[in-house]
Amino acid sequence: MKGNKILVTGGLGFIGSHTVVELQKEGYEVIIIDDLSNTRIEVLDGITKITNIRPEFVKLDLKEKEAVASFFKEHKIDGVIHFAASKAVGESVENPIKYYENNIATLVYLLKNMADNNVPHLIFSSSCTVYGQADELPITENAPVKRAESPYGNTKQIGEEIIHDLTKVNDITAIALRYFNPIGAHDSVLIGELPLGVPQNLIPYVTQTAAGLREELSVFGDDYLTPDGTAVRDYIHVVDLAKAHICALQRLLEGKNKTKMEYFNVGTGTGSSVLDVINVFQKVNDIALKYKIVDRREGDVTSAYANTKLANEELGWKAEFGLEEALRSAWQWQLKQV
Ligand code: WQD
Repeated sequence: MKGNKILVTGGLGFIGSHTVVELQKEGYEVIIIDDLSNTRIEVLDGITKITNIRPEFVKLDLKEKEAVASFFKEHKIDGVIHFAASKAVGESVENPIKYYENNIATLVYLLKNMADNNVPHLIFSSSCTVYGQADELPITENAPVKRAESPYGNTKQIGEEIIHDLTKVNDITAIALRYFNPIGAHDSVLIGELPLGVPQNLIPYVTQTAAGLREELSVFGDDYLTPDGTAVRDYIHVVDLAKAHICALQRLLEGKNKTKMEYFNVGTGTGSSVLDVINVFQKVNDIALKYKIVDRREGDVTSAYANTKLANEELGWKAEFGLEEALRSAWQWQLKQV
């Protein structure tokens, strides 16, 4: 509720920064921990310009056990939203140790300090990746968690299990939000996605190609069993995704959770193919995109989009933006990058 102090780890990242804005709009006091390994400190200015409230910021690597312990001794926290993690699927295959250390060891330190300091609630950034290629579409929260196709996906599965085990023996209550594909940018164009290096994800590669920073987009396969042969995903506007975190946090603060740990799929419920994205991007931004079809990317699933019934009914949350607005905002954000 208003006035509660919420720790947002990774709060200067893409989803984290948009969530901080929504938290501040709802009257929460926010403190951010970020190690700045995959973002820029200027994001803090962007947040402040949007809300006129400068969040407290602590530069901290969650791998630093002593520093994390000191942080929790110095701050009384009412809830944690945990984004801080490495998130590139391909990189995780090449460098699994980085992912298990950065995503799992840090979660363990965070949870230990939450338990030691009686911090009561946790919202965990999870992913639809835990489902792999689901047998049934749209995907419900009861879909079986399948063996992860990447260390990144495995860290999300293991993370959920670690949290679940803790909630069984501690007063902490938790919600895992299983994101589908977050895209777009805040309509102020003051915060957005900042992929460092060559973008791994589709939308930043699309916008950088349209901006002439990339020669052309490679479409990874057009021989999937989908309407146009390209893979299908559920692209959700990052502001809609941010708002889902507020609904989940309020559910825990108000004690409305039905079990100690809950899981919600956060998507629009609509599947869009890669060619759909290309066509909508070109139309809504009146720009031609250069692309070619190449081989499939290892580890990609054919189709994933959410059954959003549980989140709609239990969280009282529903995505408001469609693909058009998300791709329009992504392009406006790209145009602002120097
Ligand atoms: C989307 C579609 C590609 C790039 C991953 C993680 C997920 C989340 C989002 C962090 C796929 C195709 C992509 C390109 C392409 N991670 N594509 N050309 O793999 O669905 O999800 O990122 O928050 O947890 O699993 O997202 O954007 O990489 O790919 O054709 O240059 O676009 O094959 O079909 P993905 P993506």
